[in-house]
Parts: sequence; structure tokens; C-alpha cells
Amino acid sequence: EQRPRVLSGIQPTADSFHLGNYLGAVRQWVALQDTHDAFYCVVDLHAITVEHDPKLLRRRTRVSAAQLLALGIDPERATLFVQSHVPEHAQLGWVMQCLTGFGEASRMTQFKDKSAKQQAERITLGLFGYPALQAADILAYQASHVPVGEDQRQHLELTRDLAQRFNSRFGRTFVLPEPFIVKDAAKIYDLQDPSAKMSKSSSSPGGIVELLDDPKVSAKKIRSAVTDTGREIVYDPENKPGVSNLLVIYAALTGRPVGEVADEFAGKGYGDLKKAVGEVLVEFVTPIQARVRTYLDDTAELDKILRRGAERAREVASVTLARAYERLGF
Ligand code: ADP
Ligand code: NA
Repeated sequence: EQRPRVLSGIQPTADSFHLGNYLGAVRQWVALQDTHDAFYCVVDLHAITVEHDPKLLRRRTRVSAAQLLALGIDPERATLFVQSHVPEHAQLGWVMQCLTGFGEASRMTQFKDKSAKQQAERITLGLFGYPALQAADILAYQASHVPVGEDQRQHLELTRDLAQRFNSRFGRTFVLPEPFIVKDAAKIYDLQDPSAKMSKSSSSPGGIVELLDDPKVSAKKIRSAVTDTGREIVYDPENKPGVSNLLVIYAALTGRPVGEVADEFAGKGYGDLKKAVGEVLVEFVTPIQARVRTYLDDTAELDKILRRGAERAREVASVTLARAYERLGF
């Protein structure tokens, strides 16, 4: 049975995933396990492109993996691993760097955004080369599909260009991955500034809901969410971004269409909606947190799961790397 292969990764750069990470990415990863040959990795090599603390990175890598497991990634149905455990990523990453033009890398908007916030001396070659490593992450598995949000489209486009370039210079080696806009992927906005997406780099902590935060604190953040001066509950992202965001969260967490949820709340007040969203959130995160704790209480078992995942990942990535090296004249 040949299922289409997908690859996706998440950076271990926060103490918890936020609601956007789950509803916009991880929830879809869980669904894809049943229809695809899925490879999911915690991309710790990417996490050192900016200054980092080793102890914190080690902890966050485990916490990220534990969250993926707790949220439903099943290591029997998907290959779950840590990027640095599979040396082929860095090896193929170097190859991709050598194919990437300086101008091409300079045009990456994520690099422009991230480097704009730093002094020149602190901007590393790693940050500049990040998209080349990301290309290697994908190409190493010959993934035909990559679930990506809008923000990663440009990197995926570069990945395709690099694969094509390699193939035409050295002979067909890599599958060209297709972007894969996943059905039901919700975009979640900042609770305090619903014009911005919820992000771990948000400047207001009240705007982001972290899955591992105290559920009472999260419910309180939802109660304090910015809405508008009207009183009508309707799904209208353009004119009522705050209310619409809450409706989307409620709909996603209860697995219902947003229109149906909006109808249910028609005639009720903003306070009722916020209370209801807070309640489903608490119900959702409470068992997740317990499962995360179980994984973190037994890091030997967690590490074993990740080691097995890395072994499976290497079986695929090493074949790709050997083929690429051969073509390159190594
Ligand atoms: P952040 O944007 O907070 O830095 P990441 O870049 O680590 O988060 O994102 C990890 C995954 O979560 C990506 O697939 C990204 O598209 C998704 N994601 C992040 N924020 C949101 C959001 N607010 N809504 C939907 N998906 C999101
Ligand atoms: Na991001």
C-alpha cells in the first residue's frame, strides 16, 4: 500500500504549544496519520539559528514531543522523531545551501522579518540558511505533500526550486513536494489583537492561549479577549474579528461548523460566548496536560519512542542522502 508521504515539523522554541499551533497544524497532523505516510519532527536544529539555552532546548524538545503524543500523534502510525537525531538533515542541508543563491535566500520574507529585529552581528548564517535546511528536511523523505500555512509557502516554493535545480543538474533524485492546504486548518488570532495571528512571539501574553498553561489562566484570558462595542454574535471576520475568532475556537474545539455555532449563540451576549469558549478549552486541555505529564514523568520511555522514530526516519533519509551524494560525485 503506497500512501502519499507528508512531512511536517515544529520548533521546540516555547514551553508550550499555543492554540494556533494545535488548531492550525497539529490537529491536521493527527488526521493525516490515517491517510498518509506521515513523518513529523521536532526541528531542534532550526531552534539554534537564534541564540539559545541548551538546558531549555533539551527540555522544550521533550515537551514538544510529549505534546505531540498527548495530542494524538501515534508513534505506531506516524514516524515521530527529533531532527538532530537524524544526521542526514544537516548533511543534506549543506548540499541545499550550496545550491541556494545568495539573492534567493535574501528574498525570504521570514529571514527579512527575523533579521530586522536583530543586530547584524547576531544574525547567523544558520538563520540565513534556515530555508535550505528546511528544504533538506522535506526532500530527505521524498515527501510529496507538505502541510503548510500561508507563512511557509515561500519556503516550500524554494524547496521545489532546489529540488528541481538538483534534479536538472545532477539527475532525477528528489520528488517535488506540493503544498498542501489542509482542510479544517483554522487560523487563530491573538486574543488581544485579533488583527494579528496568535503567535509565541506576540508582545502581549494575554493574547495567546498556551495548552500547558493553568487552564484557569487560559479561561481568564478568554474572558478578557478583545471583542468590539457591538453586542451581536455573528461570524464576520472582517468586521468582528474578535468575536469571529472566539467562534472559530469554539467550533474547532467542539468539532462543529462555525456557522452552526454562530447560530447557537445568536441572541446571546459576548460574556456567554466567552464563558462557553473558556469551558470547552478547560475541558480540552485538562486531559492533554495529564498525558503530557505522564510522558515527562518517564523521559526514558519518551526518549525510547523518539529513538525508534529516528531509526525509522534514518532508514528513509539515508537512502536519499546516499543517492544525492552519489550524484554529486562523493
Ligand atoms: P509561531 O507562529 O507561534 O512562532 P510556529 O511558527 O512555530 O508558531 O508554528 C508552528 C505551526 O503552527 C506552523 O504550522 C504554523 O503554521 C502553525 N501556526 C502558528 N500560529 C498559528 C495560528 N495563529 N493559527 C493557525 N496556525 C498557526
Ligand atoms: Na511562525
